[in-house]
Amino acid sequence: MDVLLINGPNLNLLGTREPAIYGSKTLADVERSVQAQGEAAGLSVEAFQSNYEGAIIERLHAARTDGTRFVIVNPGAFAHTSIAIRDAFQAAEVPFCEVHISNVHKREPFRHHSYLSDIAVGVMAGYGTLGYNLAMTFVIETLAG
Ligand code: DQA
Repeated sequence: MDVLLINGPNLNLLGTREPAIYGSKTLADVERSVQAQGEAAGLSVEAFQSNYEGAIIERLHAARTDGTRFVIVNPGAFAHTSIAIRDAFQAAEVPFCEVHISNVHKREPFRHHSYLSDIAVGVMAGYGTLGYNLAMTFVIETLAG
């Protein structure tokens, strides 16, 4: 598996959760779309979602040795709270893109800071679920080059 797509808490509710902010696509739609994009470029994509901080941390530990070449992550609210997920990314030593469906910078102040952004390769915010595909376009370019 080349690319690991991680979605954090509440993102399993995509499509029905606050659609005015997060849109109408489901998580399964997003995962299928990113997987199809990867496959068309010859890359395999594994999708993982959890509402639990520890499960995400353990998936990142596994990424140290399972051949993961790039991670695309929407950490959900853990972006704003989790030093432990930041530490797991640093331990994993796998490059990653951070994606937020909404533009967190024009929302509540507590969403303006992410514990991941300064160690991410890049950050997408505010492009809706298309942001996952934009990140995947970057990953394809990077891994192909
Ligand atoms: C989010 C933004 C976060 O602030 C929020 O807690 C989420 C979703 C986004 O995709 O816009 O769960 O990561």
